[in-house]
Amino acid sequence: MKGIILAGGRATRLRPLTKITSKQLLPVYDKPMIFHPIETLTQAGIQDILIIIAPEYAGQFLNLLGTGSDFGAKFTYEIQEEPRGLADAFIIGEHFIGNDNVTMILGDNIFDENFSSVVQNFQSGGHVFAKKVQDPQRYAVIEFDEHQNVLSIMEKPQIPKSDYAMVGLYILDNRASKFAKNVKPSARDEIEIPDVINQYLPSGELKVTTLSGIWEDAGTFDSLLKVNNYWAEKARDSNK
Ligand code: G1P
Repeated sequence: MKGIILAGGRATRLRPLTKITSKQLLPVYDKPMIFHPIETLTQAGIQDILIIIAPEYAGQFLNLLGTGSDFGAKFTYEIQEEPRGLADAFIIGEHFIGNDNVTMILGDNIFDENFSSVVQNFQSGGHVFAKKVQDPQRYAVIEFDEHQNVLSIMEKPQIPKSDYAMVGLYILDNRASKFAKNVKPSARDEIEIPDVINQYLPSGELKVTTLSGIWEDAGTFDSLLKVNNYWAEKARDSNK
């Protein structure tokens, strides 16, 4: 199993915080945001990790993260010249993935959850995760029946078919790269992740698991503050 962290983009929603650095380098309590997705992958037993970054602050990522040895991992870097969409990670990462499976995580997705057993037991197809949220229209929305069969996944729908967001961690086999190349840009001119995942559906190869642990997309001021408070509280609790 290989890992990809997508940490590109310009994060215009977080200006002026992101005017001189990247969103994924902003603090989440006592460490830079990107440490969280790195630790989510390494805790799941993934050591071979591709980090996809925007050109503007590439040097800052290299200075901070280096080879990956501090994390017991091996990092490879690729530049994403333009924010073409999340599905682009599988195209940029095609050679890195090779014949292996891949877990792709978004650089601003903060979990307090251990994915080790699902990553270690994954064989083929796709495995995604759903979390009940108050504001589903902010995310890809995943609709599934009582047997956890996925019925639909739609990116930021105006009328959501469920209250479940598809979180930013996707475990896929290496068809992800081929599937990503089939995807046509959306109205916001991005190749969207649900259009990759949906291609695993017709053959019944897509699994969904509901998350009970903590998950936050730290891409807005409020959610960034929320994750900072969560990790601060957790640190205080463990020092008691
Ligand atoms: C992105 C994805 C969306 C996903 C979300 C999870 O949204 O497009 O499918 O549910 O991340 O964090 P965005 O980065 O545009 O907020």
